[in-house]
Amino acid sequence: MSHSPLVIAIDGPAASGKGTLARQLGEHLNLPHFDTGLTYRAVAYALLQANLPLDDEELAVKTAANLDLSKLDRNILSAHEIGTAASKIAVMSRVRQILVEAQRKFAMTPPGAIMDGRDIGTVVCPDATIKFYVTASPEIRAKRRYDEIIQNGKSADYEEIFADILKRDERDMGRKDSPLRPAEDAHLLDTSKMSIENAFQKAIDLIEQAVAD
Ligand code: C5P
Repeated sequence: MSHSPLVIAIDGPAASGKGTLARQLGEHLNLPHFDTGLTYRAVAYALLQANLPLDDEELAVKTAANLDLSKLDRNILSAHEIGTAASKIAVMSRVRQILVEAQRKFAMTPPGAIMDGRDIGTVVCPDATIKFYVTASPEIRAKRRYDEIIQNGKSADYEEIFADILKRDERDMGRKDSPLRPAEDAHLLDTSKMSIENAFQKAIDLIEQAVAD
């Protein structure tokens, strides 16, 4: 008997809590987790490392095509500035095509996956078993990112991070190809109104219901 893969799509803006939720769900459900933001970050990082510009589509396409997606190092790629750089190359359709293909392949491999990103429910896995859109106010998201950086022993400026978050939202929501928006059938989880623990419990209840259906 063959089961179709269990695919859980989690989208939302930067620092919304979707990554934490996705990791917790992956552990709880024993499903692999793919943080698709790391793929865009890896392309941006490779360009920055080689001192290449972030606005040359040909170079970005070549870099994406040569990337080894099995070696994504969260420790290096999670830096706030790399997220900003990633959103600049994420506007390029041909880069997206290459990365989306690899992401889809991962999601469709049994037993399935928790996929987190910006366009999972709308583009990468429109037929996902269940979809969530995790959000929070820009102020709360900026404060979370700020606390995270301080906790890691680095210095940060709240106002600068807040401005970056607004700019990143604008770029991610305003791009032509695969803009960030909730899929029509996504469940909304607003983490400015509930803790990540409550969001996790709500997600588990909805997943159990969806699987039973
Ligand atoms: O989620 P994360 O902050 O790591 O994503 C970095 C950037 O990569 C986002 O701001 C967005 O521009 C891009 N991204 C995307 N589609 C995804 C995941 C990330 O465009 N599925």
